[in-house]
Amino acid sequence: MTGPEGQPIPLNGPVAVPPKDEGKPGSVLDAVEGGPLAGAVSGIVQGLTAKQKKISPRYFYDSAGSSLFERITQLPEYYLTRSENAVVERTVDAIVRQVAPQEVLELGTGSSKKIRQILDACSQTELPRYTAFDIDRGAVTTAVETIGQAYPGIDARGVVGDFEKHLSLLPQSPGRRLVVFFGSIIGNLDPWPRRRFLANVRTLLGPRDRFLLGVDLKKEPHVLEAAYNDAEGIIAEFNRNILNVVNRLVDANFDPGAFRHQAIWNEDDGRIEMYLIAETRQEILLGAGGVTITVEPGETIWTESSYKFTRRGAQGMLEEAKMRLDAWHTDTMFGLALAAPDGS
Ligand code: TRP
Repeated sequence: MTGPEGQPIPLNGPVAVPPKDEGKPGSVLDAVEGGPLAGAVSGIVQGLTAKQKKISPRYFYDSAGSSLFERITQLPEYYLTRSENAVVERTVDAIVRQVAPQEVLELGTGSSKKIRQILDACSQTELPRYTAFDIDRGAVTTAVETIGQAYPGIDARGVVGDFEKHLSLLPQSPGRRLVVFFGSIIGNLDPWPRRRFLANVRTLLGPRDRFLLGVDLKKEPHVLEAAYNDAEGIIAEFNRNILNVVNRLVDANFDPGAFRHQAIWNEDDGRIEMYLIAETRQEILLGAGGVTITVEPGETIWTESSYKFTRRGAQGMLEEAKMRLDAWHTDTMFGLALAAPDGS
């Protein structure tokens, strides 16, 4: 596969290399030493010194960010989680019957609700291993503990890593693997990183393994914009919290209160765009980068995109990554794709 200028897209290396430490039931391991945010400074400084200032959404998820995100999933306007839960509930038995997973690998661990639906549908005498993978150590630890307590005897373990960089460091699966990527997190990746991510997921799959992917669907712009501009302002708080994380990581002095949140639908690119808009002129010292930046009143920092899909679009991106769409379930708001590796 090649990138925008024809250069090969680097994959994350062969998966066949077993990680140094396979872990054991109940363990939470770091994919890389120092955690996934080690070495974050240069990327953050680069984003904040660009013409359109940008901060990567991977920095949303400190413990405050993870708990604000939990509240987002319960907002009346934010239909995604409810829709996805309902679709999973309706279809999980058929999926589990078809795949009979011996490992359920969850990329981007949220609250464990959907995983519980999957594990409940599995044979309780032959529970699959549960592996939680997330950038937030707290989220991984909670998931491993919660699932470990709810299913006595289960082999639940966690890996702390960045799913854009560290998938190749995952321990090998004990057998048939179901990789799940819920919450339309795939929509938070731009097209090229998304292609690379899907190509990496493909390397995690043997012939009998499957990939279960949740995608939010294109719909009327006012519904989409309402979902990302909630009346209570929780998404605004979540968005501003990224500045707290950046302050800590690069020793900066952003005042989150001096920014307001905006989410707009970009029809041409098929995505919601989330910004922080400066209310006042500010000079921000990025201590760890040794630079000072200026933010003008009304200037935006782009923190995240949330792409929306169609069934055809989802099928197309899976096929491009050498997977085929095996089953498609939807409530018309949200889609759940079950994908199989090509040739299986
Ligand atoms: N992936 C989901 C989405 O795009 C959840 C999410 C990620 C989100 N970042 C967010 C929701 C920021 C609201 C705000 O909707």
